[in-house]
Amino acid sequence: MCGIVGYVGHRRILPVLLDGLRRLEYRGYDSAGVAWPENGDLKRVRAKGKLNILEETLEDFRSTRSSIGLGHTRWATHGRPTEENAHPHADCTGRLVVVHNGIIENYFALREQLKKEGHVFKSDTDTEVLAHLIEKYLEDDLVEAVLRALKDVEGAYALGVLWADKPDTLVAARKQSPLVLGIAQDESFMASDIPALLPYTKKVVFLDDGELAVLSTGGIKVLSINSGDEIEKEIQEIKWDAAMAEKAGYKHFMLKEIYEQPQAILNTFRGRMLPDTGEVELPEMGLSDEVIKGLNKVVLLACGTSWHAGLVGKYWIEKWARLPVEVELASEFRYRDLLLDEKSLTIPISQSGETADTLAGLRIAKELGSRIVSICNVVGSTITRESDGTVYTHAGPEIGVASTKAFTSQLTALYLLALYMAERRGTLNEQERSRLLKALLDVPKIIEDRLGEWHENAFALADEFYTYSDFLYLGRHLQFPIALEGALKLKEISYIHAEGYAAGEMKHGPIALIDRNMPVVALVPKDHVYEKMVSNVEEVKSRRGIVISVGVDGDEGLNRLSSVMISVPEVEADINPFIFTIPLQLVAYEIALARGCDVDQPRNLAKSVTVE
Ligand code: F6R
Repeated sequence: MCGIVGYVGHRRILPVLLDGLRRLEYRGYDSAGVAWPENGDLKRVRAKGKLNILEETLEDFRSTRSSIGLGHTRWATHGRPTEENAHPHADCTGRLVVVHNGIIENYFALREQLKKEGHVFKSDTDTEVLAHLIEKYLEDDLVEAVLRALKDVEGAYALGVLWADKPDTLVAARKQSPLVLGIAQDESFMASDIPALLPYTKKVVFLDDGELAVLSTGGIKVLSINSGDEIEKEIQEIKWDAAMAEKAGYKHFMLKEIYEQPQAILNTFRGRMLPDTGEVELPEMGLSDEVIKGLNKVVLLACGTSWHAGLVGKYWIEKWARLPVEVELASEFRYRDLLLDEKSLTIPISQSGETADTLAGLRIAKELGSRIVSICNVVGSTITRESDGTVYTHAGPEIGVASTKAFTSQLTALYLLALYMAERRGTLNEQERSRLLKALLDVPKIIEDRLGEWHENAFALADEFYTYSDFLYLGRHLQFPIALEGALKLKEISYIHAEGYAAGEMKHGPIALIDRNMPVVALVPKDHVYEKMVSNVEEVKSRRGIVISVGVDGDEGLNRLSSVMISVPEVEADINPFIFTIPLQLVAYEIALARGCDVDQPRNLAKSVTVE
């Protein structure tokens, strides 16, 4: 939800800002803007639309020698995506600008008050109140004015402030929206996410809620917004490199990330398991054996694709660790009367570690005494910092808005976690654990071997089906969440209406929809519900439905029932979710391409949902 970059140092400002915004564009892309000091004043350039439009608009300013400035790429919350609503927003004098990610909840009251005091507003955004509020308090100390302004503000923010009278300093602040600072020799950076910093530095400081930072060529000073006191911050070293956040010859980030899955899965289990002895090592969970034995339930808490990973995790944890599992949509969970205590374990699952609802749910669970162990991809993100322990997925940066490698890495982490708990709780013997770990060990190779073939299948299938306007995805047991995930991938990047359904539920309603115009994607592994699933496929077929199946190699019976069948290898049943997911990702990708959609930046979406 919006990307912020800020820089002060010795480089020319525009390339740094534009490069940073390009790396953050996945966070929002309906408008963008930059501001920098020029001849004692501030220059501000904004444009509606994607970043390349801003870039074209900036052609005339390429020669600027300024080496400090702020940039923003927007995902609209308040006010339509127009140039006037694009950031940076300015105060009445035009000498102070603000970039912001988050929502100022009391903006309406503040705006009315400021208007009465004579401030003139030029946009419909909540952010503009920040610029005027700082202006109101500004005498000659920018930091003081920002601190005072933030005392009046309710809501969430990560913000950057630049003032023409102090053209060597940026001020940043954070409450409930991510902001990371970068440190290098004689230069300082701020950004909403790490990829924007990677070409310049790997030394970062994560700003926490309630903190303000002053950035200059001399370094970074962090203060408490409440007390104004200086805070000592830990500098962290990031292990990702800049190339990991680039396309490496692939047409889209999404495709690159689909192809990176064997490596991402491998990296997530590497060093954490001993298949021969059935042991899993997850010391980062930070839970003693006694605590794990004494648990009364597990809550998996997430949104979107991460929630689908949780739905798969439930089967594994219940089956192997014999613990009741609830899988919760964080946006619902946070408003319920919850039954949690210190014997419960809450596992927030999040790629970004910044999803507002998941974070809010985590905080409520924590208040009720639940233990919190998150599964997360971004080191140092807010969710990890507020958890008692974190099992990191080592997927590397995921830039494509549609989550792919993060999902299969989350499955990997959940699989390990379930076996780890089973071992500690004594609910699964060594032989069984060893067999399951060996099965996981094979997954990267299985996917690697078949990726090319599935991609070709998806390409051919897209050619035939890209004009259809509705799809139904059916699965049972472990494949039910995969049907949900397959449908989500298709709808979010191709804008085709797609629904995932538990195949057994078909007769309770959706079967009425079956006709020649709605392809049905059926996930049919040879598992204990195979016959049931085949019956469901027959039901579709006998109603003249079009069946696209994903089934195991050599399943001729299924092939005969299907208009198109994608074959996958027959594997250990618990491994199927990893395998069945990949062809569905590729089908969504190819259909979206065939429809001319922007795969990496689908309309109305943003990678990291840091507002409610
Ligand atoms: C879909 C997708 C979203 C995210 C969801 C949660 O492809 O990416 O549904 O899964 O917004 O995001 P994280 O995992 O960052 O909490």
